[in-house]
Amino acid sequence: MSDLQSELMASIRTIPDYPKPGILFRDITTLLGAPRAFRRAVDELVHPYAGLRVAKVAGIEARGFILGGAMAHQLSAGFVPIRKKGKLPHETVSVAYSLEYGVDEMEMHKDAFLPGESVILVDDLIATGGTAEGAVKLLRKMGADIVAACFVIDLPDLGGRKKLEDLGVSVRTLIS
Ligand code: PRP
Ligand code: ADE
Repeated sequence: MSDLQSELMASIRTIPDYPKPGILFRDITTLLGAPRAFRRAVDELVHPYAGLRVAKVAGIEARGFILGGAMAHQLSAGFVPIRKKGKLPHETVSVAYSLEYGVDEMEMHKDAFLPGESVILVDDLIATGGTAEGAVKLLRKMGADIVAACFVIDLPDLGGRKKLEDLGVSVRTLIS
């Protein structure tokens, strides 16, 4: 394991039985609160894309907003929020999805992308991949060109990474 991976692992806290019994919740608020770990995680997430002229970073609510905002700033890209149903004020496209511990619906503004605009999708964690798959469907519906999907944490036993790769999406994760 690299020095960066050890630092990121050490900065993430695990909460048993949250939000439901049997779930080991990987809590990145401790990573976000650690100045060096936060900076290093964002630097590592963006580094393959520096100089690629990425038009937008799309972040999945809620922790994808924090990482995605910092990534967009570093890449001089725009930021697009993918939100839980009912939170966006203008016309939206929506998709239902399921995740490790439930089902929900997510939305994006209809005018968030010009056709063919390049985008990096980001969230804190990929588990079953249901959430990220929903986001990929929305981005493709809008005609965006998905450069990659990035996550700090992969839970490989839950198969999300493979699910996205089977959809033809390039996946980048920092720790498993
Ligand atoms: C978590 C996480 C991802 C999703 C991953 O968010 O931030 O978005 O679960 O799970 P999956 O790969 O099984 O779909 P959560 O749904 O808990 O929502 P929150 O960000 O609003 O807390
Ligand atoms: N989203 C889905 N599964 C999760 C987990 N185990 N920890 C944090 N977020 C999650």
